[in-house]
Amino acid sequence: MQARRKRRGSAGFPKLDLMCCSAPKFTVRKYRFAEGQEEHEREHPKSVLVVLIPEVLDPQYGMHVWPCAVVLAQYVWFHRRLVFEKTILELGAGVSLPGIVAARCGAEIILSDNAALPQCLDNCHRSCQMNNLSGVLVTGLTWGQISPALLALPPVDIILASDVFFEPEDFEDVISTVHYLMEKNPCSQFWTTHQVRSADWSVQGLLYKWEMESIFVPLQSFEANKEQLADSPLPGRHTIEMMVITKVTM
Ligand SMILES: C[S@@+](CC[C@H](N)C(=O)[O-])C[C@H]1O[C@@H](n2cnc3c(N)ncnc32)[C@H](O)[C@@H]1O
Repeated sequence: MQARRKRRGSAGFPKLDLMCCSAPKFTVRKYRFAEGQEEHEREHPKSVLVVLIPEVLDPQYGMHVWPCAVVLAQYVWFHRRLVFEKTILELGAGVSLPGIVAARCGAEIILSDNAALPQCLDNCHRSCQMNNLSGVLVTGLTWGQISPALLALPPVDIILASDVFFEPEDFEDVISTVHYLMEKNPCSQFWTTHQVRSADWSVQGLLYKWEMESIFVPLQSFEANKEQLADSPLPGRHTIEMMVITKVTM
């Protein structure tokens, strides 16, 4: 195991690129979001955000950051003035990079993952702890289920989800959960990224059925058209798309 470095960075985090926690199977990765060019950063040092995400060395979904998450986190960072003081729910959060970035940008966040996967909910808690975020609501929300946890949610302004459209058989469950949330919160927006894994997969028909509409947001419009974001090797060469989905208004 690599030794932990003890120096502290300017944001109060341990100064490290990669370190191992006491439980050896977790690796903490640093994601660094910065505004504009390096020269601008030197003049405005506050326009940099560093978050730490503990990832589990496990190929399962929800245990590490997926390429889509870095792109959605970059969207949140780029639009950080829009998320400030908003209530934001992340669905299928896994290790929760976009939600953690939102929280560090001043949002009130709620993190959720499959109610049947407590290890994913543990990951949400761990990411909060690692970024000194206390009092974050972490809740089990299984897509397509109207559960007591879903009914108990406070009003939300923005719903986040990265890489939740990876199994076509689950697409409608995701959309129906978002539809339920939009019925309760008619002005809310759903910000989501997905990886293009098959040209045949689309949610457009389901959005029409559930009376929602989408706008595809070009990655270059929020400086995400790169193979490496936030000082990480992600998203790599994966094709990622970003959509903002809203309820159709009559
Ligand atoms: C591909 S991973 C993406 C994780 C994270 N959003 C990211 O992009 O790094 C899919 C996530 O959806 C969660 N998930 C899968 N099926 C689910 C379901 N039926 N209800 C709620 N969450 C689910 C998984 O536990 C996992 O965290």
